[in-house]
Amino acid sequence: MTLEPLPPDVALRTINLKKYYLVGGLFSPKRTVKAVDGVDVELRDEVYCVVGESGCGKSTFARVVIGLEEPTEGDVLLRVSDGVASELSRMGEEVVENTVSYRRLSPKGKRIVKRDIQMVWQDPYSSIDPKMRVWEAVAEPLLVHKLVKSKEEARRRAIEAMKRAKLTEDLADRYPHQLSGGQRQRVVIARALSINPKVIVADEPVSMLDVSIRAEIINLLRELHEREGLSMIVITHDLSTTPHLCDRIGVMYLGRIVEEGPTEEVLRSPLHPYTKALLAAVLEPDPENRRRKLEVPIKGEVSAAPPKGCRFRPRCVLVDERRELLERCSEDEPPLTGEDHKVACWGAQ
Ligand SMILES: Nc1ncnc2c1ncn2[C@@H]1O[C@H](COP(=O)(O)OP(=O)(O)OP(=O)(O)O)[C@@H](O)[C@H]1O
Ligand SMILES: [Mg+2]
Repeated sequence: MTLEPLPPDVALRTINLKKYYLVGGLFSPKRTVKAVDGVDVELRDEVYCVVGESGCGKSTFARVVIGLEEPTEGDVLLRVSDGVASELSRMGEEVVENTVSYRRLSPKGKRIVKRDIQMVWQDPYSSIDPKMRVWEAVAEPLLVHKLVKSKEEARRRAIEAMKRAKLTEDLADRYPHQLSGGQRQRVVIARALSINPKVIVADEPVSMLDVSIRAEIINLLRELHEREGLSMIVITHDLSTTPHLCDRIGVMYLGRIVEEGPTEEVLRSPLHPYTKALLAAVLEPDPENRRRKLEVPIKGEVSAAPPKGCRFRPRCVLVDERRELLERCSEDEPPLTGEDHKVACWGAQ
């Protein structure tokens, strides 16, 4: 089968992406954790946020999307830059209109593709080597990908990347412990920027930071999208970070996207009972908005394995109110349907 190229405005697409882990062993029975369980997401020229509570599979999704882990099933299509496309073609890899499929690439091809997709990790303390100077940490990906010929060039390109992340040149020779939390996270961002990727995947980029500096990092990411045209997937458990940063939101529950749409629309008129519950949990500083905050409870804890039918059913209050839904919700998994604003809920369709 030939590879279907992505449309020009699509940077990345996941196709029925699944990642299962086999857990248990000596003292507990073996079972499969379906961390990501059939995700179809399209990243356009935008910032796309994946939102959901702890353990729903957000980080696993990120790791598979950047190619750090192999999917159990499904695929990731990526639109690569001209340089990467021609290098891959020279190596005999399959590239159609700058589109590549992770599944079809060789391990070497996958390594080259990583030039176009970079990760920003949650923890700025553990994601930079404490023994490296700032410029060295920022330049490291340039060396890994052999994109510089000399130490001088590496330093110059690192300082350029630092400036794009709003770090001043005088910080270049410092060590990580001599920086503030916000500066450290900028170093992590500069490091991702150093090799000029087209896509950035950021996993909880502000959750470890002091509340007072979260906004600057969010603004920086937004600016990088607007000024440099970087497409981004940002992962967060906190809906309140999304309005200023994200164009679209995908709400993840137990490994699946249960609602997706333009940020404003999803926040203003959520369709899925889970999204409603997440929204109700967000502290709303604006009294105007607080008044219309939705009073939607959620039952119990997230279950370890999804049940038959709708995976949210055991926690759903809608199905308690509308008993006529129960049979369908217990039997069939609702698909994600709709035009721009999509939902996977029998009660909302
Ligand atoms: N390497 C692994 N081996 C086994 N199970 C794993 C592995 N990585 C993740 N999991 C399991 O997969 C599920 C999803 O984990 P993941 O870290 O992706 O969630 P998350 O949404 O990022 O959570 P958090 O908000 O706490 O970071 C969890 O049940 C987790 O225990
Ligand atoms: Mg995580």
